[in-house]
Amino acid sequence: MYKLIDGKAHAAAMRREIACGVAEYRRKYGRDIGLAVVFVGDNSASKVYVRNKIKACEEAGVKSFAYYLPATATQSEVEELVKSLAVDKSVDGILVQLPLPAGLNADAVLSLIPVEKDVDGFSESNIGSLCMNKPCLVACTPNGVMRMLRREGIEIKGKRAVVIGRSNIVGKPMAMLLLNADATVTVCHSRTQNLKEICLSADIVVAAIGRAKFITADMIKEGAVVVDVGMNRDEDGKLCGDVDFANVKDKCSYITPVPGGVGPMTITMLLYNTLAAAERSVGL
Ligand code: GUN
Repeated sequence: MYKLIDGKAHAAAMRREIACGVAEYRRKYGRDIGLAVVFVGDNSASKVYVRNKIKACEEAGVKSFAYYLPATATQSEVEELVKSLAVDKSVDGILVQLPLPAGLNADAVLSLIPVEKDVDGFSESNIGSLCMNKPCLVACTPNGVMRMLRREGIEIKGKRAVVIGRSNIVGKPMAMLLLNADATVTVCHSRTQNLKEICLSADIVVAAIGRAKFITADMIKEGAVVVDVGMNRDEDGKLCGDVDFANVKDKCSYITPVPGGVGPMTITMLLYNTLAAAERSVGL
């Protein structure tokens, strides 16, 4: 019998703790914690994510500064905005929602976010620190996965973990976090040969591929922990993950659902990072 990992419940519990931290910060230092969100263009998925991030800020007592730029915004307009936020003392964290519209250079924009305000953990410096297992701001989705595994009491040390997907946002930092937690990690991707055999060796599978129901029951070892980072639409237009949940679940010891698994933890970790950035700015 599998156990469903309730990301919503974990997220709610963590958000209560974060809200207490935010209130205490305000009491101690006499100012709000601020998160700047930069959204360029009108990508419909991004719109939903940004709306949810701003709502989560409100609920946690974090002040949000939302900047909506049209898809026609130029590289220098976006860069000037980020540069002004970089030196704004009321802004503890800066988030540039990705993807940026075609024609804009995201790397150049992200490189203008000071490392201590990089609450997405996407900067080269934060990723480098993560690789070296040094304290840093960690990308929200993979960090949320780690939190959820820890809160469930799932052992990672010495386990075989397989991460499917090698994006800078999820796959790579996920692999690093699992490695830092003493797992033996394999990263698979679209060119991997023998994917099924590799997955079958895994005690922990993290699916971050972006293809609906790609991970099937024949790829999963009996008793494995399966974490689904995917957010797709199936043939009926229904929200689904990268894992064929209905068929995979009975092989698992633990599995995350979509929706209600990893998703709620991602925004929670954004709040967590924003509080951490504010605390670090006063030397905590
Ligand atoms: N686009 C998809 N996921 C993310 C994320 O976690 N942060 C940002 N900034 N953009 C995204």
